[in-house]
Amino acid sequence: MNITNQHLLKDDSLKAKQITAETFGEGKLIEGDTLNVLSKIDDDIVNVGVTSPPYNKQEKQKGWLVKNVVYDVYKDALPEPEYQQNQVDVLNEIYRVTAPGGSFFYNHKIRWHRGNMYHPMDWLRKTAWTVKQEIIWDRAIAGNIRGWRFWQVEERIYWLYKPIGNYLIGKELKSCDAKLTSIWRGVPENGRKNPHPAPFPLWLPARVIISILGTEPQGIVLDPYLGSGTTAVAAKLLEHKHIGIDRSEAYMKMTLDRLGNAASEMPKIHEELALHEVQTTFKERKSKGKNVGKYRPTDSEKDDEQRNFLFQGTTDSELSK
Ligand SMILES: C[S@@+](CC[C@H](N)C(=O)[O-])C[C@H]1O[C@@H](n2cnc3c(N)ncnc32)[C@H](O)[C@@H]1O
Repeated sequence: MNITNQHLLKDDSLKAKQITAETFGEGKLIEGDTLNVLSKIDDDIVNVGVTSPPYNKQEKQKGWLVKNVVYDVYKDALPEPEYQQNQVDVLNEIYRVTAPGGSFFYNHKIRWHRGNMYHPMDWLRKTAWTVKQEIIWDRAIAGNIRGWRFWQVEERIYWLYKPIGNYLIGKELKSCDAKLTSIWRGVPENGRKNPHPAPFPLWLPARVIISILGTEPQGIVLDPYLGSGTTAVAAKLLEHKHIGIDRSEAYMKMTLDRLGNAASEMPKIHEELALHEVQTTFKERKSKGKNVGKYRPTDSEKDDEQRNFLFQGTTDSELSK
């Protein structure tokens, strides 16, 4: 079957490694199980990826403030060792399909079950990836305000890197991107705007794509747990190609609708792009005797209006992830 011009595909219609740079076309949305679908993608073709997998939250109510995250066609309740091994296998497949020098941004969180802490590094160290950075996503909102612990308002984003040869460090970020720091502040997506139970805010995949691919034309962007298609929309609006995988037909339909109407989301991309602009260069700051070394927040960052969102609207299910 010639798949080059087909955007929407099903896992069982594809042969092993059939998706290549040549058969890629404008992009691919593939319905099926992530691990199976990844086996249909050729080696070394993805430039950057970003995803939020299911967190194995057992679909039990764990907080007072939020409803459960319940996915279409998927029950988020595996025995923990099986879940972690699946994530290792998925991450190793993503490593295989990523080009040397490519990156993958993996959003997860620290979880507790019956008093035991599960940390994403528990399984990330078992994968082939080099862990380049742990970014804190300060969501400014807590799903659970019981006092067993200080209220957890953050998630983590792991920047994983596939080295070229033995050089683990890779190339430097530009200062206009690196200045966004290792703490990313932003509330989760509003559930009234996106009916998926746990969507990314658009700025998040956009930040990754802008920082890693910059103005390089037509990179390939992967999201192996695509949900409502936020990563594909960001890639399209930033003029890159996308591969998205999800096992839900309903979420694939949601993604297609969003891609068809993507231009309406462009203002949010412009907001993110504005954060990557450099107001004053190192040279200008130095000539005015201003700080050129340590990062200090600007006055507007100190005010951070997002803090005002704390505990507002927390009954929305999308805030519980
Ligand atoms: C956290 S959501 C991703 C949301 C996405 N970032 C967005 O912006 O909408 C995780 C997604 O993974 C999908 N999923 C869970 N397990 C899967 C599997 N084994 N194979 C394919 N998709 C899966 C679910 O259907 C869900 O849409």
